[in-house]
Amino acid sequence: MGCTKKINENEDILWTRRSYLDEIERIENENNSFPWNREEFIKNLRDSDIISTSYLIGEDVVGYSFFGLYNDRIELLNLGVDKRFWGRGIGGHFIGILKDTLLPLRQRKKIEAIVREGDLPMQVFLRGQEFKAVEILENWYDNNFEDGYLFEFRTDAKRMYLPKNRISEHLNGTPIW
Ligand SMILES: CC(C)(COP(=O)(O)OP(=O)(O)OC[C@H]1O[C@@H](n2cnc3c(N)ncnc32)[C@H](O)[C@@H]1OP(=O)(O)O)[C@@H](O)C(=O)NCCC(=O)NCCS
Repeated sequence: MGCTKKINENEDILWTRRSYLDEIERIENENNSFPWNREEFIKNLRDSDIISTSYLIGEDVVGYSFFGLYNDRIELLNLGVDKRFWGRGIGGHFIGILKDTLLPLRQRKKIEAIVREGDLPMQVFLRGQEFKAVEILENWYDNNFEDGYLFEFRTDAKRMYLPKNRISEHLNGTPIW
């Protein structure tokens, strides 16, 4: 059952199955200093608010995402791509699906992700995906003293992040202060 767009003939994104977890855990362990363990993966798979998709090339799982889907936001909880396939657009494909899931005219307008301060690759990746770091969450993690950086992608980002020309807004009509 494909749930999304296809890239190549033998590549697809599918809902994650428990049978994928061996490969997902291997990728997770290779990529991270503080990886999720089997218990965390299963707990998240069972949570009805959390959705997980996996990227398959042929029969092989080469990437995965876990995200919470809420009325007002999407929370990206975990995203990993097998090192051998980095830089091929697989991570971007997962993010593209999340962006498609936003509801521009309703209240689900943003994707949030909390990234460890030491996880530079993920930060660079998210910046390339038009996310902005909006908050530092001090001592966010239990297992070390790292801060978390809250990244956001918003459908109304242009309005939110571009500097406002307060004077021209004032002159054009309603004052904003
Ligand atoms: C971040 C991640 C999901 C990106 O997946 P991907 O399939 O390679 O992503 P895409 O091909 O769509 O995008 C690649 C872009 O992400 C960024 N990026 C990915 N890996 C990077 C790295 N190691 N260093 C710096 N930037 C990186 C770059 O901007 C890159 O663009 P470029 O190829 O033009 O340079 C993947 O690298 C991953 O799973 N990383 C594991 C996270 C990690 O390493 N954590 C460290 C824990 S401390």
